[in-house]
Amino acid sequence: MCGIVGYVGNKKAIPILLEGLSKLEYRGYDSAGIATFENNKISITKDKGRVKHLQELLENHSSSSNIGIAHTRWATHGKPSKVNSHPHLDNTGKFCVVHNGIIENYADIKKFLMDNEYKFISDTDTEVIPNLINYYYAQNNFLQAVYLACKDLKGSYAIEVLCQDYPDHIIVVRKDSPLVIGTSNDGNYIASDIPAVLSHTKNFYLLEDNEIVEVYGNKLNFFNKNLEPISKKTEIISWDESAIEKNGFDDFMLKEIFEQPKTIRDTIGFKLDKDKITLDNIEFSKEFLSNISKIVIVACGTAMHAGLSAKATFENLCRIPVEVDVASEFRYKNPLVNKNTLAIFISQSGETADTIGALKIAKEKGATTLAISNVIGSSITREADLFIYTHAGPEIAVASTKAYTAQVTLLNILAFYIAQVLGYIDNKLIKSLKEDLFELPNKIETILENTEEIINISKDIYSAKDAFFLGRGIDYPVAMEGSLKLKEISYIHSEAYAAGELKHGPIALINDDFPVIAIVTDEVLASKTVSNIQEVISRGAKTIVITTENVSKAFNYIIKIPKTNQYLTPILSVIPLQLLAYYISKEKGLDVDKPRNLAKSVTVE
Ligand code: G6P
Repeated sequence: MCGIVGYVGNKKAIPILLEGLSKLEYRGYDSAGIATFENNKISITKDKGRVKHLQELLENHSSSSNIGIAHTRWATHGKPSKVNSHPHLDNTGKFCVVHNGIIENYADIKKFLMDNEYKFISDTDTEVIPNLINYYYAQNNFLQAVYLACKDLKGSYAIEVLCQDYPDHIIVVRKDSPLVIGTSNDGNYIASDIPAVLSHTKNFYLLEDNEIVEVYGNKLNFFNKNLEPISKKTEIISWDESAIEKNGFDDFMLKEIFEQPKTIRDTIGFKLDKDKITLDNIEFSKEFLSNISKIVIVACGTAMHAGLSAKATFENLCRIPVEVDVASEFRYKNPLVNKNTLAIFISQSGETADTIGALKIAKEKGATTLAISNVIGSSITREADLFIYTHAGPEIAVASTKAYTAQVTLLNILAFYIAQVLGYIDNKLIKSLKEDLFELPNKIETILENTEEIINISKDIYSAKDAFFLGRGIDYPVAMEGSLKLKEISYIHSEAYAAGELKHGPIALINDDFPVIAIVTDEVLASKTVSNIQEVISRGAKTIVITTENVSKAFNYIIKIPKTNQYLTPILSVIPLQLLAYYISKEKGLDVDKPRNLAKSVTVE
């Protein structure tokens, strides 16, 4: 969703801001804008459209400013247009603001300001912020005015503010929307997301909710929610800058699919080094686990599918009932969780508003909360009682691939660990699970070596209007994930069904050449799924079967994948589905990495 960049230092600001914005393009946006100080006056360039368009608008702009704020907007209040783009000014042109998030009480504030003769030109919620700061500035200095204005705001916000009277200052604040400040000898780099400024520094201050920072020259003054000065420490981010480059691949998504052998290896890491399974920074006692009567796994989108894929491992090996829920539903249903619940929240970005909201509810109800995230210091890891990281490195393509397989891997390791502590699995089983985990990366490589057949299938079915994905048992969540990938990046309407459900309605839609993609890896259930595939063949469907088994040659396409432990199979069976979605999107000539209407990090409800 929206992205923020800011810079104060001794270099020229505009190239740094534009580079940062282009690194944030993956988050999804529809407009872009920049504000700098030119001859001691705030100067704004903004429009709807891509960062490249903004760059063209700035081409003949001779700027020497070494301070600036910048934004990519994903429209919420008001359609994409120049006037609705950020930065926004107050009525006097003194204050200039970029904002990520949503101001929920903006209508009340707007009314209050209009009653005080303020005028508004945009449809955005954001425009109330510079005007409210202006309102408080009459009696206060810049920092106090921003602080007082924020006290009135309800909702989520990460903001940067410039003030005409302080041409070397940016004031930044965050609440429920991410913001970091990278620091180096050349200056301070503000961003909503680390990759935006990773080429300049690896030292970051990770801001907490309601913290305010005064950034000027090479100085940073931090304040808490009561405007009392505080000191903060930097964190070193180990991500390699090359991880945010395409490195010869056409698209980030393809690069990230091919990175999976490495990301799985990194996620397994040292957790399996000794005889036992150990987790990076979590140790559960048998007594604690014996009191857990339920596990809930809560997430959105692909991360939720990772939870569904691991449910069977927890239930079968740990003998604890597991509920998997969509975060936006869980948070408003008065969920049945208590102090005997282990509540696991999965989020690649660690910033998804609904997942964080759901976590807060579970915490209030006394559950032990555990966050799984791919981003160090992300909001979800700071909210939860416990956290573990996947080690997938930065994921840039909107459609998640390597983060998903890392999540499924980590959830399985967590389940193996819990079963081990509870004494439900013996050393022999642990040894064999460990061997299977260690072999996963090589097996993924084998699948990735054989993309030709998948490219052929893509050429055959890319013009389809609809598709079905089928699976039973452990294969069903994989079907759901395959279907989501296809609709996200190819815009083909697709649905996933438990294979046995097809004849209870959806089969009515099958006609000639309707693509049906089936996953058949569950030895026990394979023959049943195969019968369901026969039923769609009889009605003219074109069938594509991803399987570990020796199945009938009656199908149009068969993609054989290596066998592994049943619990780990989803990590392998999803890979042909990721590739299929990718190549179909390419065949249709679409922007794979930045699909329409979608955002990588969904920081609003
Ligand atoms: C968005 C993204 C998906 C992602 C979901 C959850 O919808 O487009 O790729 O799975 O958010 O994101 P999270 O960062 O919480 O895993």
